Amino acid sequence: MLIDGHGRTVDYLRVSVTERCNFRCQYCMPEKPFSWVPKENLLSFEELFVFIKVAIDEGITKIRLTGGEPLLREDLDKFIEMIHNYKPDIDLALTTNAYLLEATAKRLKDAGLKRLNISLDSLKPEVAHHIAQKDVLKQVLRGIDKALKVGLGVKINMVPLKGINDDEILDIIDYCRKRNLKVRFIEYMENRHAVESLRGMHGKEILEKVKEGHTIRALGREGASPSFNYMLDEEYEFGLIDPHKHDFCENCNRIRLTAEGNLIPCLYFDEALSIAKFVKKGDIVGASEVLGKVLRDKPKENRWMDDSVDSSEDISQRAFYETGG
Ligand code: 5AD
Ligand code: SF4
Repeated sequence: MLIDGHGRTVDYLRVSVTERCNFRCQYCMPEKPFSWVPKENLLSFEELFVFIKVAIDEGITKIRLTGGEPLLREDLDKFIEMIHNYKPDIDLALTTNAYLLEATAKRLKDAGLKRLNISLDSLKPEVAHHIAQKDVLKQVLRGIDKALKVGLGVKINMVPLKGINDDEILDIIDYCRKRNLKVRFIEYMENRHAVESLRGMHGKEILEKVKEGHTIRALGREGASPSFNYMLDEEYEFGLIDPHKHDFCENCNRIRLTAEGNLIPCLYFDEALSIAKFVKKGDIVGASEVLGKVLRDKPKENRWMDDSVDSSEDISQRAFYETGG
């Protein structure tokens, strides 16, 4: 079992397989970065797998592959298969923008993938285009349909933004409820890479919008999930991910690995330690020591406070597209 310096059990590893993305979401990667991580700095799937085996052996039971957009990385299904074959009961999930999902869903499922989180910020083609800076909606909706058809579990993520998609919260609920998909509304997290004028909706404001059309009842946090769940009209469950709230970090169970091999204890802070040189040599003991150090140093909580726009100086320079959020 992996326990961090604050007594929290860490059983969840998020692995970003690429920072590249085919969207330019205003809240994440509005412009192509000045330079991508050079190809030779990316760890191969074999190298990433060296660490993943260590992590699984030591207590990781859930792995999520993220990006950038993970479906841009060639042979992702083979990587999924490697992990799945090593431990078939691992909870293996992927976060994607779904643009390439129609073509890949079946292969991902066959390789052993269980679940997907898909970003869906709007059901209006022009608004989806405005947010992702690309005409994406049709292809995303096709990807969702295909994933459901092949039997993958699907959850939807929406980031409500003031004046952009804040009038679509009820429509997204409607869309998801009809398909029996859980939606999680994510508070926009301020970061240096996002479009400056963006204003996210606070959790309270999101709930007010939902209440305009429905009755809701608080259920609580589900285990170590960052999502606080609500029952809607006594028949449908949705979630709210509210990193600005103070109890958010108490049960944090996760660490993150970037495509270059940086192991990150907390999304909010810049601190990270590299496992690259160890996995390149197949040095399992070295990789395990880094894992131990990162766990010991995992911060107690983030600092996305309610007034965090003013305290943005603290926030990590690292972009969400390096860590997959
Ligand atoms: N704030 C909140 N969520 C974000 N994501 C990316 N950037 C941000 C941000 N600044 C989330 C998106 C997507 C996932 C990959 O990361 O909702 O679903
Ligand atoms: Fe790409 Fe996802 Fe970031 Fe949008 S939020 S730019 S889809 S990584």
